[in-house]
Amino acid sequence: MNKNKERLLALGLMAALFLVGAVCYAAFPPGEPIRVLLDFGGGAGKIMFEHQEHHADFDLACLDCHHTAEDETDEMQKCGACHLAKPSKDSEVPSRKDSFHAQCIGCHEDMGLELECTDCHGN
Ligand code: HEC
Ligand code: HEC
Ligand code: HEC
Ligand code: HEC
Repeated sequence: MNKNKERLLALGLMAALFLVGAVCYAAFPPGEPIRVLLDFGGGAGKIMFEHQEHHADFDLACLDCHHTAEDETDEMQKCGACHLAKPSKDSEVPSRKDSFHAQCIGCHEDMGLELECTDCHGN
């Protein structure tokens, strides 16, 4: 192979890789985790939450779960930023555990899906 052909091949490769990158970037908006390990050491067993599957495959919107975000480009906070492990007695904000259970199990019940504790815990 002569020098010009090599250079052309390299340029072609660069263009192809750039395209792959651009397509991936568009398909997975920055900042969405594929899965999230939820483990607060409470002894109930850690949870591997299939984040991207819930969003993309189950067709749910960011704001269905990130209920305090302004829109899908907003910064998504951890639930525990507001839902404390041990909130004060007179707090109107549910505890971290209750907020997760209410949101996860609440939606599943609405969709007629009944999961055992161990379907979520201990993965
Ligand atoms: C749909 C999924 C799901 C199901 C079903 C579920 N949980 Fe949970 N649970 C969670 C999530 C998410 C958390 C928050 C993450 C964590 O605390 O590790 C949590 C937290 C907890 C915690 C608190 C742990 C801590 O350290 O704060 C306990 C205890 C618990 N669950 C017990 C149970 C029991 C008992 C059942 C069955 C009756 C059950 N869970 C069913 C998802 C689920
Ligand atoms: C089915 C509910 C659900 C949907 C839909 C969802 N998320 Fe999440 N997301 C969660 C949960 C639960 C967590 C874990 C929160 C925690 O660790 O306290 C999380 C975590 C995140 C995190 C990591 C936050 C951190 O600081 O660790 C980002 C970023 C995020 N989501 C972005 C998004 C974006 C962007 C969308 C829409 C494209 C989206 N999420 C859709 C439930 C959801
Ligand atoms: C910026 C603070 C903030 C963040 C982040 C946040 N929440 Fe909340 N959440 C609140 C407040 C305040 C309330 C009580 C007032 C209300 O119902 O809006 C609440 C209420 C709730 C409720 C009860 C709703 C009802 O109708 O009673 C659930 C369930 C819940 N949050 C789940 C979650 C989950 C799961 C996450 C993470 C994906 C999350 N929240 C993130 C502030 C927050
Ligand atoms: C807004 C609705 C919604 C919320 C919130 C939600 N889920 Fe789900 N979840 C679904 C749907 C829809 C399915 C798929 C049901 C089916 O297969 O028919 C599902 C399925 C699951 C499954 C079954 C295995 C799988 O991945 O297919 C697990 C485990 C699960 N969810 C865990 C969680 C946990 C843990 C949370 C909270 C951190 C959560 N989900 C929050 C809607 C939700």
